[in-house]
Amino acid sequence: MRMIMLGAPGAGKGTQAVKLAEKYNIPQISTGDIFRSNIKNGTELGKKAKEYIDKGMLVPDEITIGIVKDRLQQTDCKNGFILDGFPRTIPQAEYLDDALESMGVKLDVVLNIGVDDSEIIKRMSGRRVCPKCGLSYHTIFNPPKDAVNCDVCKVQVIQREDDREETVISRLKTYHSQTEPLINYYGGKGLLLTVEGRDKIDETTKAIFKALGV
Ligand code: AP5
Ligand code: MG
Ligand code: ZN
Repeated sequence: MRMIMLGAPGAGKGTQAVKLAEKYNIPQISTGDIFRSNIKNGTELGKKAKEYIDKGMLVPDEITIGIVKDRLQQTDCKNGFILDGFPRTIPQAEYLDDALESMGVKLDVVLNIGVDDSEIIKRMSGRRVCPKCGLSYHTIFNPPKDAVNCDVCKVQVIQREDDREETVISRLKTYHSQTEPLINYYGGKGLLLTVEGRDKIDETTKAIFKALGV
């Protein structure tokens, strides 16, 4: 299975991608997670990316494309992958088309999770993430089992720096202007599958599995 997860910031791409990755036994590739781990480790890439991420802007295409290019070459992508948060611009999508063609593979589906902006703001303010593995939690909708630590890593979950309300608003603007056009791009290729993401996490997972026929 080779798939893309599309959706506004906070639509639940990461939450659902983890479940899909488990189901299909393929890697979840989140460009956001890759940037955050570089920021945490203080790499050059991390420093550069942080300038954009903190403003709610997209990291420039040439940087982002280079990362995905390297990642797709790794052997664990042989049987498929879930791209979570990439592509986010038309040039990124065009690059991906070329890359997959030269790898001799095709995309199976582009899963679009639809959620209203008002719901997004609610979700982001309660989001907590594991600084180690990147799993997303929510103080009300999906708390860690002990309310404090990641269920898997047992380290304390934290708030993402770009989840402050003013940054969320600018991320939403960026989404509408630069990423939303991909819905038509992939719709035109007959690859788009839209699932309503307003329901509870488990209900949304069920709807996604049903739509994918698994
Ligand atoms: P990234 O990390 O990808 O952020 P994003 O797209 O803004 O998406 P999020 O991770 O915030 O949301 P999500 O859809 O994964 O939702 P989640 O499952 O966590 O990117 C960060 C930044 O990096 C970007 O702003 C950009 O600067 C840069 N970047 C990344 N990729 C790039 C690219 N390709 N090009 C250029 N720049 C790039 O869920 C959100 C919350 O809601 C959680 O708390 C969760 O528990 C909760 N929740 C989820 N589903 C539900 C539900 N059904 N009901 C109730 N709560 C729910
Ligand atoms: Mg995410
Ligand atoms: Zn963890």
